[in-house]
Amino acid sequence: MHWVTLFLVAAAYAVVWASAAAATKQQSALFVQIHRSLGMTIFVLTLFRLAWRSRARLPGLPADLPPIQIMAARATQYLLYALLVQPMLGLLHSITSGARIDLFFVIQLPAMMGRDKVLSKTAISAHELVAYVMLFVVAVHAAAALFHHLVRRDGVMKAMLPGARF
Ligand code: HEM
Ligand code: HEM
Repeated sequence: MHWVTLFLVAAAYAVVWASAAAATKQQSALFVQIHRSLGMTIFVLTLFRLAWRSRARLPGLPADLPPIQIMAARATQYLLYALLVQPMLGLLHSITSGARIDLFFVIQLPAMMGRDKVLSKTAISAHELVAYVMLFVVAVHAAAALFHHLVRRDGVMKAMLPGARF
């Protein structure tokens, strides 16, 4: 679920940036609609992941890891669960701006709320801010994973790969 999430998050960024660079309004709207669908999928997958995680047997961090690094790892991981907040901000912006949300062009979400210009603008500002904070946190997180793999060589990265035994 971790690596599927990474793929979906990368795709969500890629399509929304592609929408900004699209040649026509129709193309741009299509990319935004795919972005919304990917974002909602990330939300559902993350809920499922947290439920799974609460019952799963997880690999512990290496016993010799300094407390400061344990704290940094935990803080980063909690921040990455902003994956639940971010789609809700996007959803709030889309609904209150009066947009339709076509999940992969198959299911259309009901309107749920009326139009609200102020709320819509606030939600998209927060959505943009969280998007850039998330990019930074993911970069720090990925760099830390590489540090474990290449410098400490302590098996933290291997424990996340499919087929890992612990
Ligand atoms: C983890 C999930 C998500 C991530 C990482 C994400 C990230 C982003 C990013 C990077 C942008 C561009 C910000 C900018 O222009 O500077 C954006 C814009 C936007 N997002 Fe999301 N988003 C997510 C989920 C959602 C969801 C679930 C929805 C709606 C249901 C949504 C709706 C939008 C809309 C409407 C825009 C503005 C697009 C435009 O320029 O017209 N997002 N998002
Ligand atoms: C190149 C990208 C990435 C690499 C190399 C990577 C690597 C890792 C590694 C090695 C761990 C295990 C750390 C531990 O056991 O404490 C981990 C955990 C975790 N990663 Fe990533 N990761 C990447 C991208 C992401 C992304 C995009 C997200 C979410 C936005 C994410 C969210 C998490 C979370 C929440 C955990 C804690 C374990 C859990 O709660 O499931 N990672 N990652």
